[in-house]
Parts: sequence; C-alpha cells; structure tokens
Amino acid sequence: MRASLIKSSQSLAAIILSAGLGTRMKSALPKVLHKIFGKPMINYVVDSVMPLKTQKNIVVINQKNRDIKDALKGCMVSFVLQKEPKGTADAMKAAIENLKGFRGTILVLNGDTPLIKTATLKKLLSLHNQNKEDISIVSFIAKDPCSYGRIIRKDNEVVSIIEDRDASEEQKSIKEVNSGIYAIDSNSLKLLKEIRINKSKGEYYLTDIVDIAVRKGYKVRAHILGSEAELTGINTRKDLLNASHYLRDKTLSRWIDNGVSFIDKSSVFIHPDAKIGIDTVVYPNVHIEGKTIIGKGCTIYPNTRIADSIIGDNVIIKDSTVIESSTIKDSATIGPFAHIRPGSAIGSQTKIGNFVEIKKSVIGNGTKASHLSYLGDAEIGNNVNIGASTITCNYDGKKKNKTVIEDNVFIGSDTQLIAPVRVGKGSYVGAGSTITKDVPPFSLALSRTEQKNIEKWAIKMQSSEIKKRKGR
Ligand code: UD1
Ligand code: CA
Repeated sequence: MRASLIKSSQSLAAIILSAGLGTRMKSALPKVLHKIFGKPMINYVVDSVMPLKTQKNIVVINQKNRDIKDALKGCMVSFVLQKEPKGTADAMKAAIENLKGFRGTILVLNGDTPLIKTATLKKLLSLHNQNKEDISIVSFIAKDPCSYGRIIRKDNEVVSIIEDRDASEEQKSIKEVNSGIYAIDSNSLKLLKEIRINKSKGEYYLTDIVDIAVRKGYKVRAHILGSEAELTGINTRKDLLNASHYLRDKTLSRWIDNGVSFIDKSSVFIHPDAKIGIDTVVYPNVHIEGKTIIGKGCTIYPNTRIADSIIGDNVIIKDSTVIESSTIKDSATIGPFAHIRPGSAIGSQTKIGNFVEIKKSVIGNGTKASHLSYLGDAEIGNNVNIGASTITCNYDGKKKNKTVIEDNVFIGSDTQLIAPVRVGKGSYVGAGSTITKDVPPFSLALSRTEQKNIEKWAIKMQSSEIKKRKGR
C-alpha cells in the first residue's frame, strides 16, 4: 500500500480530450466543432477552464479535426496530436508528453461536455486539494445512464468505472455515472502505462486508471457535483439539441427574471453571453447571437437575427431584420427587412427602413434611409435624407471607395453616388442623378438630362400607324 502523497504544489494544468472520431454524430464536421447558439462546443469547455488560471491548457486533437485550432484561435491553449484515436487513455498519454516535468494537479475534461460550469470545476479542485486526493472524479446521477461509465462503489468508496458495454445487468442499473471530468495528481500519471487495451472496444480507457489506482492504495474519490443537464456528454445530434434547449431555457429564465418580456419562449434563441436591458420585448423567432448587448425598452419584432452587436435603449427593430457586428444608438428604428452588415454604426433616432442594406458605414443622428437603398463604405452625417433607391457605388472592380454625405443633405430618390465622392453639408441632389464629382456645401446637384415634352406626339404617332395599316 502506498500512502497518499503530500501535494507537491498547487500548480494546475488542464487537458481537454477532443481527438475522438465522434462517429455517433454522423457528421463530416468534428464533433466538438458542432455549435450551440453559434459557438462550438469546444469553446464552451475552454471558456469554463479559463478563469481557473491554469499554467497550461492542452487540447488533444487528431489528424482529421485540425480545424479545432481555428475555432480556438486567440485562446491560451496548445495542441497535441493523438496519432490514432485509440481511446481516452491513449489521448491522455499524448497530452502528458507536453507536460513533462509538470508537478501539480491536472484537470481533465472531455471536449464534448460543453455545459460544464467553472463553479463545478472549482468545487472539484477544492475537494481534490483539501482531501489530498490522487484522483478525483466528477460524477452525477443520470436518469438514463446507458451512455456513461458507471461508478462502482464498495463500502461507499469508488473502486472502478465500468463502461456500459462491459457492465453486468446489475452494474447497468447503477445511476451514478462518470462525467469524464477528473482532477489527477501528476504523481498518478505513471499509472497510465498500466492500462491495458479494452478488448470489446479495442481502445485504452482512461477510466481503467481508477481500478489500477485503487488497487495500489491511491486515494481515489468520486464526487456527485452538478446536474445531469450540466454534465451531459454530447455524443449524438439529439444530445446536442437537448443541450441547446436546456441552455436556451436557462438563459431565457434569467432574462425573464431580469425584466425582459418574451411573447413566445419556444422559438427565441439568446446566446448565453448576450445581455438585454429591462422592459425590452422580444417577439417570436428572434435569434440574439454572440456577445450582443441590447439596451432598455427595445422592441425586437419577429424573424430577426442580431449577432455580436450593441443596441442602445428604446430601439425598435422591425420584422425580418439582420444586424451583424454593428452598433445601433438609442431610439433608432431599423427594418422591416433591413440588413445591417458588419462594421456599421447607426445614430440615435435614425431610421433605416424596408430593404435597406448598410455595410461598413457610419450614419449620423436623425438621418433617414427609409426604402430600398444600398449604403456601403459611407460616412453619412446627421439629419440626412436618403431617398428611395439610393446607391453608393463603392466598388470600382478593384477596391472599395468611400462616400461622404455631410450633415443636413437631401439625396433625391434613385441617386447613384460614384465613390469616392463627397456631398457637402446642406446640399440637395436631384432625384435620378448619377453623382461623379464632389458637391460643394449648400448646392443643388443634378446630373439627369433635362426633360423634353413633345406635345401631341402620341396622337401623331397613332395616326401615322393607322395610315400605314390602311396602305397595306
Ligand atoms: C467517456 C467515458 C465515460 C464517461 C463519458 C462522459 C471513457 C472510456 N469513457 O465515454 O466513462 O461516462 O465519457 O461523457 O473514457 N477522445 C480522444 N481520443 C480518443 C477517444 C476519445 O481524445 O481516442 C475524446 C473525445 O473527443 C471526447 C472524449 O475523449 O471528447 C470522450 O470520448 P467519447 O468517445 O465521447 O467517450 P464516451 O463514450 O462518451
Ligand atoms: Ca462522450
């Protein structure tokens, strides 16, 4: 028997296992890149670890899911390749190659457990440290435990973990299961070498370390922490859908408690990182994605998607509008059927109406573009009127050019502004103009040809046609 080791240090590293094939998803996309509210599962797991101030975070990937690296660009993680998916213990062996000389605690997580909370990880680590455990396991009670390894206890202490396919009928009835989250002291890692291949699956199971460690007298404990909903492992698309519904309900309940109204909960999706002010009303089929912030007293009508944007107070977003990576100031009205593309800023009390597309443009306060326009790479001042069918012709076939429209300008309907071009403050542009040159302040610019009326032309034309027919 080996006495439990005194902790060598409080150092912490994390390993996130993500090199499995994910065959049960039936997908060409790596499992951990499947998204919940636009965010890949693996990012949820990494985000849950970040507040723990780990010294190192290792994500184990395989040859085919290298795209995980792109999803985690900018995150404080390093990657280790598991050459072949030979099981969770084999993935761990690959990871610890990168932790040579590390002494302390290794937090192990599955990349397919996206709803894990930092608070649960903290509880695990504090129990692990306080009780000087060698291996600490997060377990939970599952309603239907069949896709998890069962926690086998003897005299109340965990002695092994048995996967469903290897379990006896009696073991299958056990509801306490392994979440796949562990805190492991670095001194226990040498036991990985002793794990033998599981004959029924042809894989090396990390869970087999429990039986080996217990036999050698290591201190192994399983702690029932967190709910099934939080610790659920996503193996199938059904699991993914359930997780997304769970997260949706949780997020909506939080906002309902915080003074937000929903007309119908079941069709609204709000990213957990988004924020909404009090007295905002959200209609059905609204999707609020990413780190969007919505102010107080807004109304968001149906079929609208808002991603990574900042919306001020008292903004009205009418039906079927898309807003991406943009800012909308207080009391603006957007839509119906408007598309605000990335990099745009819309001023307060500004109105962007039906079928207006705005791209990378700054629009001042009190300006109106009410119908059928394209405003791209434009800088538009305050109190400007943009007539229906105005187009900033920003692309010359090679590069994008800027249109500047200063304060208090009136642009008549069906105007094309050939960029680069500037319309000076207080000017008017006549309807139907094609503006190719800068317009000085307080001018009228007109580029259409003068109208000619040929009186009685139609009568003459009709009588000459009658004559022609008779002559035939
Ligand atoms: C695993 C556990 C099970 C636990 C469940 C919790 C084992 C043997 N079983 O089962 O006890 O109840 O998680 O959700 O550990 N992976 C690799 N390389 C591989 C195989 C898997 O990195 O060769 C990764 C996967 O990408 C995944 C994680 O390890 O993120 C778990 O693998 P998965 O196949 O989903 O294991 P489960 O059958 O769910
Ligand atoms: Ca799994």
